[in-house]
Amino acid sequence: MKASEIIKKYISFFEKRGHKRIVNSPLIPQNDPTTLFTSSGMQPLVQYFLGESHPLGKRLVNVQNCFRAADIDEAGDNRHTTFFRMLGNWSLGDYFKREQLPWFFEFLTDVLKLDPKRLYVSIFSGYNSIPRDNESARIWKKLFEDLGIDPKDKIFYYGVDKNWWSRAGLPQDMPKGEPGGPDSEVFYDLGTAHNKKFGNKCHPNCQCGRFLEIGNSVFMEYQKTEDGFKPLPNKNVDFGGGLERLLAAVENQNDIFQTSLYSPIVSAIEKTTGSSYKENSRAIRIIVDHFVAAVFIVKSGVSPSNKEQGYVLRRLVRRAFDNINSIREIENMVVSTKTVVESIISQYKTTDPDLVQNFERIVSTILEEINKYRFTINKARSFIQKKYPQIGDELKGVKKISIDDAFILYSTHGLSPTQIKSLGYVFSVREFAKKMEEHQRVSRKGAQGKFAGGLVDHSDQTIIGHTATHLMHQALRDVLGNKVFQTGSNITSERIRFDFSYDKKLTNEEISKVEKIVNEKIEKNLPVHFEIMPLKKAKEIGAIGLFNEKYEGKVKVYFIGGPSTHSVRSGQPHTQAYSVEFCGGPHVDFTGKLKRFKIIRQENIGHSQRRIYAKVGAFL
Ligand code: SER
Repeated sequence: MKASEIIKKYISFFEKRGHKRIVNSPLIPQNDPTTLFTSSGMQPLVQYFLGESHPLGKRLVNVQNCFRAADIDEAGDNRHTTFFRMLGNWSLGDYFKREQLPWFFEFLTDVLKLDPKRLYVSIFSGYNSIPRDNESARIWKKLFEDLGIDPKDKIFYYGVDKNWWSRAGLPQDMPKGEPGGPDSEVFYDLGTAHNKKFGNKCHPNCQCGRFLEIGNSVFMEYQKTEDGFKPLPNKNVDFGGGLERLLAAVENQNDIFQTSLYSPIVSAIEKTTGSSYKENSRAIRIIVDHFVAAVFIVKSGVSPSNKEQGYVLRRLVRRAFDNINSIREIENMVVSTKTVVESIISQYKTTDPDLVQNFERIVSTILEEINKYRFTINKARSFIQKKYPQIGDELKGVKKISIDDAFILYSTHGLSPTQIKSLGYVFSVREFAKKMEEHQRVSRKGAQGKFAGGLVDHSDQTIIGHTATHLMHQALRDVLGNKVFQTGSNITSERIRFDFSYDKKLTNEEISKVEKIVNEKIEKNLPVHFEIMPLKKAKEIGAIGLFNEKYEGKVKVYFIGGPSTHSVRSGQPHTQAYSVEFCGGPHVDFTGKLKRFKIIRQENIGHSQRRIYAKVGAFL
C-alpha cells in the first residue's frame, strides 16, 4: 500500500462517517504572524476550536503538508523528519472520545490491517484540576478486550510532558486564550531490541526507537486563562497522524527512510554521492529530509535569506550540502541537484502536482544558494588567512583561531560552529557556547516586542488588523482599479502587511486616497457580519479575497457595511456592502473599533506584486 493509497483510504473512511474534506492549507500560513510554517493540521483551524463556525460543518478531514523547524536537529534517526504529511480529522463540538478512539483503531486494524498486538496506547494521567483521562482508558480497554488482547500491557499513563497537546506545548507555556487538552497517542511496536542506554525498561515513549508514534487524538476542550483553564465553548477532537510513519508501520519497516516513499530518493542520493545508505545512513537521512523540505518551501515562494522562512530554508540547503560533502565533494552540483529534486517530485506529485511546473525554479533556487554558500566559505577562508597568514602550515598546529574570530565567522559569515570546524579551524567549543548564549540573550530581548500579540493570533489588535485588511483591499481596488487583488497578508498585533498584484509604485497621492477611504469607513462605524453561502452566489455578488479553500460549494463571506446580500428588483444578485470578501474570520463587529488607519511603507516584492505595511487603531 503506497502513501497515496493510505491518504485515499483515510479520507474516504472519514467521509463515510460524515466528514467533509478541507484543503491542504499553504505551508506558509496566512494571517498568522506567530508561526513561520504550518506545523500541524489543526493550525489553520484554531479559530474554529475557539468557537467560530466552519462553513463545512462540524466534521472535517484532510491531509496537510507540515514543516517543523524545531526538528531540524532531530533529523538523522529512523523516524524524525522536518517535513511530513499529517492525516487529520476534527470534530468541532460534535463527536468526542467514544467515536474518535474506536474509529482510529478500526482504521488501523481493519483498513490498514495493522496487527493489533503490535499497537500500544498512552493516556493522560492528570494535571492540577484536570483529571486523569479514565474515559479514554475504558474505551481502549474494551477495544483490546474485544479482540481477545489483554489490555493490561497495552495502556500507559503519562503526564503533561507526553499527553497534553497545545501549539505552545506544556500547559504552563500556553499564553492566555490558547486552546489545548489531554491527548491519547497510538504507538506501533517495530519489534527492534531495546537499547538500555535509554533506560532500564522500554515503554511507548522510550527514545530507543522501538515504538513509533503513529497517531494522536487530542481532546481539545480547555482554554488557558489568567490563572488556569476554563472549558472551551465546545469539546473538540483534533486528530493528527504522520503519514510517513503510518506507511512505515504498514510496510513493516523500522526505518521510515526505507519505505516506498523515501527509498527512491535515498537511491538518487546514493547514486549522486556514489555511496551506500548502509554506510552513510545518518548523512543520507539528513540530505533526504532537508531536500524534501527545501523543495516544498521553495515551491511556496520562499527564497533563501537571513530572515524568517528564508533563513530556515538557507539552513536546510546548507546543511544538506554539508552532509553531501561529508560523503563526497561534488564540484558541479547541477546534475546532482536535478537528480535529487526529480526523485522527490516524482514521489510527491500525486498529492502536489504543482511541484512539476515549479521544477526549474526549485532547482535553480537550491543551486544558487549552494553557490552563495561556497562563496561564503571562500570569503570566510580568506578572512582567516588574512588574520592568520601562517594558517596554511598545519604541521605547526596554527589552525587554531580566536573565539572572537570564530564568532565573526558565525555572525557575519553565517557559518555554524560545525561548519567552521569542518573547514579545519580549531576553537574552544565551550567558549563559543558562552558567547552564543550572551548573543542570544541580547537578541531575545530585541525580539520580545516583536510578536507582542502572543501565540494566540486572536488578540483584539490582530482582529482589528484583519478587518483593516479587508477595507484596505477594497480601497486599493477603488483607487488603483480592479486588477488589484490580494496575494498574501500577515498581521501582527503591531502592523498589517498586505501583498497584492500591482506593477507600479503607488504615488503619495494614491496612498493618501487609500488612507482617506479606509478612515472614512472607520468613521462611519459600519457593521461587519458574515454569511455562509454557495460559492456560486458569493462569486455573483462579487466577493473578493484569497480564495484557496474549496468548501465543496459553500463559502464563508464577510460583509462590511451591510445590509446583507439581497436580490434587487432586476433579479440580479446585489449587495450594498462596501467590502465583500471570502474569509474565515474573526473580525470586529463594527469598523469604529479600528479608530484610525495609516500606511507606513510600501515595497516592491517582485513578480508584479507590491507589499504595503500599515498601522491601525491604538498603535498610531
Ligand atoms: N495537533 C496534534 C498534533 O499535531 C494532533 O493533530 O499532533
